[in-house]
Amino acid sequence: MDFLPWSEKYELKIDEIDSQHRVLFTLINQLYGQLMQLTPPLESQKILDELIRYTEIHFVYEETIFERLPMDKFDKDLHKLEHREFCKQIASYREKLNNGDANFIADMLGFLKDWLKEHILETDMIYKREYFKHGSNT
Ligand SMILES: [Fe+2]
Repeated sequence: MDFLPWSEKYELKIDEIDSQHRVLFTLINQLYGQLMQLTPPLESQKILDELIRYTEIHFVYEETIFERLPMDKFDKDLHKLEHREFCKQIASYREKLNNGDANFIADMLGFLKDWLKEHILETDMIYKREYFKHGSNT
């Protein structure tokens, strides 16, 4: 059983977004696996770097999609703010990992898991509804 198992409830039914979300799930599961095996920190750093890199690409992609939709500006701004806060938090974990500090690992794994689940099920679902209401050809 994965640390963060994928399930149908996370599907937005927008293929590219779903496949990007699955990559994020996979990276978080890989990070968990590395950290639990107590492999050299370099391996975990590499995965965390990839998670940071891919998350940025994903957020830009997602923001481009929902910016085009006739949604409330408030919802768009809040969504972007959640993305920025996530990036800040993950960068601070990255720094701690760099410093060889291990006390935050349970915190970090819990944060990644809870944040992604909640963000998809609550925030991403808002633009999903708008996306299909206004047609996927926007
Ligand atoms: Fe999002």
